[in-house]
Amino acid sequence: MTKRQFGKFITVEGCEGVGKSTQTRLLKEYCQREGVDAYFTREPGGTPVAERIRGLILDGANTGMDAFCELLLYEAARRQHTRELILPLLKSGKTVFCDRYIDSTLAYQGYARGLSGAKIRTLNEWASDGAPIALTLFLDADPVAGFIRKGGADKTDRLEAEGAEFHKRVYEGFLRLAADNPRRVVKIDASGTKEETHGKIVAVLKQKGIF
Ligand code: TMP
Repeated sequence: MTKRQFGKFITVEGCEGVGKSTQTRLLKEYCQREGVDAYFTREPGGTPVAERIRGLILDGANTGMDAFCELLLYEAARRQHTRELILPLLKSGKTVFCDRYIDSTLAYQGYARGLSGAKIRTLNEWASDGAPIALTLFLDADPVAGFIRKGGADKTDRLEAEGAEFHKRVYEGFLRLAADNPRRVVKIDASGTKEETHGKIVAVLKQKGIF
């Protein structure tokens, strides 16, 4: 009996307003059109428990949240999402696209909030439980331009409501992560039109043997 092959796990990362949701939607439509059997999910969230944790984290009313508490909530949501959904899908041979994953925690809670990268890496390992990331697409665009494009930050969203300096540090964090992990992370110039960015993403996925 041949062993079923593990599915490919692809994460999509980037700053706010760079068109990540649009690109994920275009990619989903592409997969439906081309008959690519792929599942699309997001973090924080993806399962009922993790979506409830998402609500807690992003709620703008939770002004007193401690940074480490925030980190643990992201990791708690990830653990649930990974165990309940991502790993079973990968084990069944499915391709899984996840809008944000471990690099967002390193960029936001690490580089931008200033929490220890070593601690985050340990928590990321626990939460992701060995889920092997085949490829990370980093949508590279300036977060300030992103906010202008989407008409400003959503002030009811606790993370989006952080200032420009915070989002600049997130961006620098992503650039460092891309430089430190050149085999896994591919930078995609996302400063052009959505069609141009979509074309670049599909080209990379073909080149890397995902499609
Ligand atoms: P989204 O707006 O892309 O859905 O992501 C929700 C917010 O959560 C966004 O501001 C990025 C942030 N985030 C972190 O700060 N750390 C994480 O680990 C993840 C997954 C997201």
